[in-house]
Amino acid sequence: MTSTLFLQSDIENPYLNYKNMLQNNPVYWDETDKIWAIYSYEDCVAVLKNPKAEIPAVNPNNEQKLNKHAQKILTNLTRLSNGIQHEISKEIAILLFSKMKSVGINSIISQLIKNDLTENKMDWINSVCKKLPVLVILKSFDFEEKDCAFISDHIESLVKIMLPQKTEAQVKSINEISETIFSIVEKQLFQLNFYESLPNKISKPNSLSLDEIKIISISNLIGLFIQSFDAGRGILSNSLLQILNHKTFSNKIEIQKSVIETLRYDPPIHNTRRIATEDLYIGESLIKKNDVILIVLASANRDPEKFENESKFDIERNSNAENLTFGIGGHMCLAKHFSIHLATEALWFLFDNYKTIELLDNNIQYEPMINARLPKKSGFHYNKK
Ligand code: HEM
Repeated sequence: MTSTLFLQSDIENPYLNYKNMLQNNPVYWDETDKIWAIYSYEDCVAVLKNPKAEIPAVNPNNEQKLNKHAQKILTNLTRLSNGIQHEISKEIAILLFSKMKSVGINSIISQLIKNDLTENKMDWINSVCKKLPVLVILKSFDFEEKDCAFISDHIESLVKIMLPQKTEAQVKSINEISETIFSIVEKQLFQLNFYESLPNKISKPNSLSLDEIKIISISNLIGLFIQSFDAGRGILSNSLLQILNHKTFSNKIEIQKSVIETLRYDPPIHNTRRIATEDLYIGESLIKKNDVILIVLASANRDPEKFENESKFDIERNSNAENLTFGIGGHMCLAKHFSIHLATEALWFLFDNYKTIELLDNNIQYEPMINARLPKKSGFHYNKK
């Protein structure tokens, strides 16, 4: 039996699995999990750009029993919406994102390192990767120190709001923190000087009440924190591992090229999902209305038709930036450049300030997640220059 849905913690090398599927079953119906899995670059792009393939509903009819604030956040997120609702929420999310002021990444990362170092050792993932992306976004919107600390401390529980299935414990902790996070963000949004003019800047203001615009804005600002957490953590951890492996840290340009090649070669996000709203074809395979589709981005990134010498980590390959790790089409990530810049700055800070950086343990364990390949922790030892 070929498995399409597996926990990354259970598989040592998922890329062997993808290679096998790409060769033998590039468009595959998984009878056990009742899901299509798509492995080639061309087909993944075709599904992501197909208007008949939409984002599947998370928590339809509130079957997971989220409370009022959690529900409000979930139902307004651009990442999970379709059609006109997506157009509106995406426009608001992009507008919010464009209002971020630039903040000093170096001062935030150096503080995070200082907070947690002991005897020249640190856990890069827990001390930096899980905190830096969300703190940079919070500080770019001028949140007060105590609010930054509260949101940063609780974001790991809140991100579980995105899971198609949630445990009771996950629902409980999401419900416990949603109202407080919602009101912190509401208070801060009203203090920002661009907020009042926001309704005039969106192209369909008349179809929405001011109250609706307010709720969509709060939810999507929280959405930026949510989206930055797992993926932001992963770009920082996976890039560090590849850079150490391939010793590509001699200058900032080399670090940036390594981050981009890591996004292709060992991406933090491995797949995303769609549901067919009408019958559609991928090559000769008929995908029926209501069928769910797994788009294996990490396999598309290793498609030899698209990337020469696909299994080689090569920072000089010209096409590396064409990886599908940020998606493509209407739901493509709006933080691609932000994320690459953040990772480049953070990793250059590390290699520029420390003479030697060595992993404490080469045996990397991964989180038990289906859609993301995220190392659990990676301690390293370093010496200051
Ligand atoms: C660090 C800050 C980040 C923020 C604030 C952010 C924000 C977002 C938002 C708001 C969307 C939804 C767009 C829409 O549906 O209209 C999105 C989509 C997406 N993001 Fe990001 N993102 C971040 C980092 C990343 C990183 C580092 C990766 C990958 C390594 C990533 C991968 C994706 C993918 C694959 C999608 C599209 C999902 C799909 O089409 O199903 N994001 N992001």
